[in-house]
Amino acid sequence: MNPNIVKAEYAVRGALAIRAEALRVQLERDPDAAKTLGFSSVISCNIGNPQQLKQKPITFYRQVAALTEFPELIDAPEAAVLFPDDVRARARMLLDAVGGSIGAYSHSQGIPLVRQHVAEFIGRRDGHPADPEHIFLTAGASPGVQLLMNTLISHDRVGLMIPIPQYPLYTAGVTVFNGRAVPYYLDEPAGWSLSVRELERSLQAARAEGTEVRALCVINPGNPTGQCLSEANIREIIEFTHREELVLLADEVYQANTYQADRPFVSFRKVLKDMGPSYASQELVSFHSISKGMIGECGRRGGYFECVNISQPVMDLFYKIASISLCPPVAGQLMVDLMVKPPVKGEPSYPLYEAELGGIYASLKRRATVLCDAFNAMEGVTCQKAQGAMYLFPSVRLPARFVDAMQAAGKSPDTEYCMALLNETGVCVISGTGFGQKAGTWHFRSTFLPPEDLIESFIGKLQAFHTAFLTKWR
Ligand SMILES: Cc1ncc(COP(=O)(O)O)c(C=O)c1O
Repeated sequence: MNPNIVKAEYAVRGALAIRAEALRVQLERDPDAAKTLGFSSVISCNIGNPQQLKQKPITFYRQVAALTEFPELIDAPEAAVLFPDDVRARARMLLDAVGGSIGAYSHSQGIPLVRQHVAEFIGRRDGHPADPEHIFLTAGASPGVQLLMNTLISHDRVGLMIPIPQYPLYTAGVTVFNGRAVPYYLDEPAGWSLSVRELERSLQAARAEGTEVRALCVINPGNPTGQCLSEANIREIIEFTHREELVLLADEVYQANTYQADRPFVSFRKVLKDMGPSYASQELVSFHSISKGMIGECGRRGGYFECVNISQPVMDLFYKIASISLCPPVAGQLMVDLMVKPPVKGEPSYPLYEAELGGIYASLKRRATVLCDAFNAMEGVTCQKAQGAMYLFPSVRLPARFVDAMQAAGKSPDTEYCMALLNETGVCVISGTGFGQKAGTWHFRSTFLPPEDLIESFIGKLQAFHTAFLTKWR
């Protein structure tokens, strides 16, 4: 067995998630399980999986998807009643772009029309045109990130700078490809901000150990930390990577999930382009996905990455790797098209689309605040606000007696805290150990995705558990 695969850890689908699944199966199969366990359902806040927690899919997306799955419907008389004109027109256009059936392989880099639409979306967003030839459609952001790691890590001293706390795709990927994770720490009391001084410390420390640092990974808005970088901060990060000749990997999958008017999402690409021709040698790859935002179609697997200032021979190699997997899922590619080209004012689907999107957004924003306030009201818990993304990452002061007991048993205290929470309430959150945290601090990550009508009872469960836990271990 490849030892790197044995070593790699991916906590969001690790022991806690596996236990949650076992509890779910027990509740389904055993009519008395709810009585024995003391709860009747499992609430999965371990991963940003909106539709698992009952987020309703956006109608326009599903209508177009339905017609592309079953083209015979488009011209059926009933379709004119069930599907607005713009839905049928879009389905026809997409079917034309895939030669009539979504069951066929597409171009390995992605359907050219979809890449064209992605380029137009990026151009509108940033005010700088994009080239469809520099865009690669992917099965979600994850395979794109892994493709980049696979190409960058050519020997076991290659390092990639990774934020701590981080989304574990990054440490797991670096481990699988046999590279080195070079940690840089986000500043929790300062709202999980990212300082260039810390980047410099981290880079120098890695170089002193003989690590050949090749890239800086940034997650903006942050997961698990929810911070949103300011334009000025992004500019100084780019100055740093340019000075140090590092490739920038910008994970921007939460770009539609920002909740503070004074901290809008600004892409790394826009800031880089605004910085002008003296930065034209700065290589940047940015990732986006249909999994997050208000779409939440993560099970369909769709996303893209865009290459900025990457040379043609390198992109040719990206193409070669992409072609070894033949193509990303075509249904996912079509959802990327819908994400980057939603209905616009004047089209029949626009009013409903706007209402659904706005409803999900407003609800996410409310839930982020309500849950953050609830965490901050818990004894020994402090939680930074989520400026973006879908998660809160509270710090928990665990009783010393509990920490000592767990450490003496060779266990990680925060994971055991989360395991107890799961076993006693059915709520699944992931411990800070899975994301990385400063030594001596303990955290957990929870999504704020439980439906609004359940959020009060969700909070009630967390608070009751926490109070009883402290009483037991104090
Ligand atoms: C920061 C970040 N990047 C990438 C991903 C993976 O997303 P996808 O479903 O597009 O592969 C996630 C998923 O939670 C994420 O949080």
